[in-house]
Amino acid sequence: MIPAMKKTFRLAAVLLLIPMVLCGCTASRPDDAPASASPALLLGFSQLGAESAWRLGNTRSIQEAAEKAGVALMYLDANQKQAEQIKHIRSFIAYQVDVIAFSPKVETGWDNVLREAKEAGIPVLLTDRMIRTEDESLYAGFIGSDFFQEGVSAGEFLLQKMKGQTDVRIVELSGTIDSTPMCQRGEGFRAALEGHPELQIIQSVSGDFLRTKGRECMKELLETCERIDVLYAHNDAMALGAITAIEETGLQPGKDIVIISVDGEQAAIDALRKGQINCVVECTPMIGDTIMELSKRLAAGEEIPRVTHPQERVFSEFDSDLDSLLPRGY
Ligand code: AHR
Repeated sequence: MIPAMKKTFRLAAVLLLIPMVLCGCTASRPDDAPASASPALLLGFSQLGAESAWRLGNTRSIQEAAEKAGVALMYLDANQKQAEQIKHIRSFIAYQVDVIAFSPKVETGWDNVLREAKEAGIPVLLTDRMIRTEDESLYAGFIGSDFFQEGVSAGEFLLQKMKGQTDVRIVELSGTIDSTPMCQRGEGFRAALEGHPELQIIQSVSGDFLRTKGRECMKELLETCERIDVLYAHNDAMALGAITAIEETGLQPGKDIVIISVDGEQAAIDALRKGQINCVVECTPMIGDTIMELSKRLAAGEEIPRVTHPQERVFSEFDSDLDSLLPRGY
């Protein structure tokens, strides 16, 4: 398409986005921009769903960052369906957005649609979660947490906490099957426990990153396992659900069962302060600003790093600064 035609088509596409605000999609542009002006950058973003406080915080961070950066954001929510995310990416291609960003629910099954994006000349930025592909040229880069390190940090806390103890029985509530945080938080945790036969994972079940499932799965584990010393939950939502199940059996979370969780949402930090959780490994959803910065660089035809990780920390009962932590914002 010749540049002038492409510009006209793009302008029409952006105008078409406006009614979509009313159908639950978002197109934002800077407050001071004239209504008819073409935005500097049109970013199509497919969010995988709204399963946790983490995810809601992540969506907020992206929407606020787009507003601040003057980026027109075409935001779509896939409601936990990979097929929806694939449809989103196809519609972004049809709209000729400048950059496509998405948080893939699972790691596999993206090659075909990403090949279509590549053929259309639209760079793709993976956010939060990774994909597994043999063709690395299908995406420009990844911005998100180091999930393997999160698993290692969870394991290292446990080694410190259980030092000198024998026959420690661990249950694991893992996240969505085939998702990057589920795979890597599991692998990192096991890597940290290698060479420590006294710490045994006796059961691992998927709670799909959901609070309700965390509660259900923990209830079942408490009924079927003879003894549980430790719960390793792949996110706070499941840990908080499990706490309810543990309390319902008359046991004390954080005391009778050591609890390690990942994310760092406000409710989990509050539970840590109360002694109901022993360790929370941070996974920050506040990556909106970096997504906008990387998207702008991609739209300008620049290369970006293959991997960008935010800075994160570990919160635990061993810390002396828990009372002075700032509100988490998610
Ligand atoms: O991909 C990040 C994970 O997804 C978060 O740990 C979890 O809370 C969310 O659902």
